[in-house]
Amino acid sequence: MKRRRPSFPLIPALGLITCALLAVAGAALAQKDSRPAAVDSARLRAPPAGQWLSDGRTYDAQRFSPLDQINETTVGRLGLAWYADLDTYRGVEGTPLFIDGVLYNVSAWDVVTAYDARNGKALWTYDPQAPREWGRYACCEPVSRGLAAWKGHIILATLDGRLISLDAATGKPAWTTQTFDKSQPYSITGAPRVFDGKVVIGNGGADLGARGFVGAYDADTGKPLWRFYVTPGDPSKGPDHAASDSVMAMAAKTWKGDWWAVNGGGAPWDSIAYDPKLKLVYFGTGNGTPLVAAYRSPGGGDNLFLCSVVAVNAETGRYVWHYQEVPSEEWDYDCNQTLVQADLKIGGRVRQVLMHAPKDGFFYVLDRKTGQLISANNYVPVTWAKGIDPKTGRPIFNPAARYDLDPVLVTPGPGGGHNWFPMAFSPRTRLAYFPSYEQWVVYARDPDFKPQPFRSNSGWGGYTGEALKKRIALQKEGDKKEKAWLTAWDPVAQKLAWQVRLPRHGNGGVLVSGDLVVEGTTRQTLAIFRASDGKPLWEFPTQSAPVAGPITYLLDGVQYIAVNAGWGGGAAQIERSAGKELPRAPARLLVFRLDAKATLPALKPEEELPEPPPLRASEAQVQKGAVLYARTCALCHGQQAVGGVKDLRRMTRQTHAQFKDIVLGGLRKDKGMASFADILTADDADAIHAYLIARANEDWGKGGGDDDSH
Ligand code: HEC
Repeated sequence: MKRRRPSFPLIPALGLITCALLAVAGAALAQKDSRPAAVDSARLRAPPAGQWLSDGRTYDAQRFSPLDQINETTVGRLGLAWYADLDTYRGVEGTPLFIDGVLYNVSAWDVVTAYDARNGKALWTYDPQAPREWGRYACCEPVSRGLAAWKGHIILATLDGRLISLDAATGKPAWTTQTFDKSQPYSITGAPRVFDGKVVIGNGGADLGARGFVGAYDADTGKPLWRFYVTPGDPSKGPDHAASDSVMAMAAKTWKGDWWAVNGGGAPWDSIAYDPKLKLVYFGTGNGTPLVAAYRSPGGGDNLFLCSVVAVNAETGRYVWHYQEVPSEEWDYDCNQTLVQADLKIGGRVRQVLMHAPKDGFFYVLDRKTGQLISANNYVPVTWAKGIDPKTGRPIFNPAARYDLDPVLVTPGPGGGHNWFPMAFSPRTRLAYFPSYEQWVVYARDPDFKPQPFRSNSGWGGYTGEALKKRIALQKEGDKKEKAWLTAWDPVAQKLAWQVRLPRHGNGGVLVSGDLVVEGTTRQTLAIFRASDGKPLWEFPTQSAPVAGPITYLLDGVQYIAVNAGWGGGAAQIERSAGKELPRAPARLLVFRLDAKATLPALKPEEELPEPPPLRASEAQVQKGAVLYARTCALCHGQQAVGGVKDLRRMTRQTHAQFKDIVLGGLRKDKGMASFADILTADDADAIHAYLIARANEDWGKGGGDDDSH
């Protein structure tokens, strides 16, 4: 038997638990290639117990590891082994990979680092220089959810659409492929997946107006192989010459009006899965553009393939089946969340299923061979539908949740009952685990909506007069009902097994290790629960809520748990918009093992608040600024200028002086604050500035007020 990596030898120490021995032997037997990250189809199909070779660990993406050195008896001894600073305050959503002694991680702006998994020593870092101005097109921060490994290479997808294959030994790029046309506001935040020599990746952009597609590329060369469009294109332009051509006519029949004018949307921005036996690739698809169905497809229609699970032939990318979870979707329920496979005994026979808990609040169990609905039930309160008709597989819509100009309160909201935070499944307990969220949001159609390229094109809002009053009152009522949990769901019985209430939304992805459930929480901790009943067993303060999916691995007979702790992304935006921001440490990769005693440095004390400048602008100017701010800046800097990536009520004297250079001149472009000169005039910038000064004075100008008053 040849050693894979001379620098990280596998030393089978005495006294290892059986499982560890098996894992080491398994890894050794599979060795053929001596390069790092020597991952081939055979290893991806049956990864050794101690390794984490792909995003969901196994093709079925259960995020289950059989490792159990850390267990109910020993977990009390779990401590921090090492950590690595990620040099960012932005959200970090990546699931790291662990391959033969090396941890490969991806941080904000797609920066990839390889670490010695034993001690955190950085082996190399690769920064793809994702253009900071492209950050404006990512709805929810410049995050990446993970990496793929293939034959000595680590494959990365960047925000601006590049697939880059890095030499796993050096971090040097081997090939680069631009996956999308930059004339549309596409972005990539999902993890690429490698299936039998192909890399498969989708894209985001449906909120702004991009025509979503999934593409497959040769994993050795980056050459494009097939492409499947989620929505039909402009009929006057003829076929796309893509794998999806065979079903675009069928899809087009479900749309009305000039849907192609804003590109349809349907972004497949996250989950992609593969069944190597059925040779099918599955992906979830997103919302449409605009979100308001009456604007998108006037006169109705299901609008295929929005908010669906689609199965295509892995070789050709051709359509095999689809299941549309929300026909004519208009509440921003994209259906991209984790697709988890299992073989479950249902009604006396073993079914090959796909499990899915998308934003719409229902837990779906589908036959993954045919796409037929086996069962569905709501895992959080749901008002948009009264249930899913088991005969037709279609939702029974609640007409009261269909909105027009009159504001209506609906749950779930755009945050989703469950969002991208990876779901896990334990073959032992036969339960699925995921963070869930009860969010109520007011919806109404903006009567003055006009789509604009490269801008948010929801079609919502425009509240004035009575509608505005009603909206505020309804939203207040909705906010009171907000709740968040870690949920354990029985997919066979379609019912709740247990739930742990957590303080607020934004709890992280889930890992099951042996009989333990591991999750980052909004208590700013990593927490461990008993998989059978949710009993809390262990919790560690992480100084920032870990939203990413944790992993576990075995090295030299020692089990580790690794997670990125970098609060940010869409959940943080929702929380910040409500003024709920916590002091937090910069993002870090944290790695734990038994009997380790490392500690995190103390959090820096909050900086003194700078005295806001006096307000000299007129009320009209402040009003104008408020409207422009809400439209252009609130996404990143928080509603009412509270919190966000940088709290603009707290600008220093110097920042006030540089305000226009920053907002129009692109002075802080390298930090992700691109110029807005293309859509704002100098007068606009002055009005926004006036509004921000007014907000700072309102909250603590004359020595009064405090940060938590919103
Ligand atoms: C796509 C996200 C995004 C949007 C939209 C956005 N910003 Fe920013 N902004 C940032 C980031 C990121 C930073 C840098 C934070 C840092 O310094 O770490 C920043 C920083 C700033 C700063 C410097 C603040 C300071 O105290 O250092 C100002 C001023 C600013 N933004 C104004 C605006 C205004 C005005 C708008 C709307 C016209 C806007 N931004 C829209 C992401 C955004």
